[in-house]
Amino acid sequence: MKTRLVALSLAAISFAGAAADAAETADPTQTYMDNCVECHGPDAKGVKGAGVDLTKSTFLKGPDAEFMEFLKVGRAAADRKTKTGQLMPAFDYLSDTEMRAVMTFLDGKKAK
Ligand code: HEC
Repeated sequence: MKTRLVALSLAAISFAGAAADAAETADPTQTYMDNCVECHGPDAKGVKGAGVDLTKSTFLKGPDAEFMEFLKVGRAAADRKTKTGQLMPAFDYLSDTEMRAVMTFLDGKKAK
């Protein structure tokens, strides 16, 4: 009986592991639509009064690490670097995979 319980919980652990692995693929469009579209718009050109045009953002030209660092902290409305005086939320709950997916989506929208 005891052995069976152990076997069962081991099975549960490896199942949880498989689920976490599966979560580590993120669809670029879906991830963007889930997290960014309301303020930056479907074409990433920004929504008036909510978020700026990202197609010309210097973050798309710089290193991935800087973009990811920015996403994790966002930009407070009172930040001295603010462009609009509006909040860019912190996305510290996105995984690296999800952040990379968003960057892939934005790369496709980048102004040439
Ligand atoms: C609640 C609205 C909102 C959401 C949601 C949002 N943003 Fe923003 N974002 C803003 C605002 C407002 C700014 C402009 C901040 C400022 O005035 O400096 C901004 C700025 C940015 C910038 C900096 C642009 C630049 O060149 O200075 C990047 C990059 C960015 N957002 C990416 C994202 C990504 C990627 C997502 C989704 C993961 C996202 N944002 C979700 C509102 C939002």
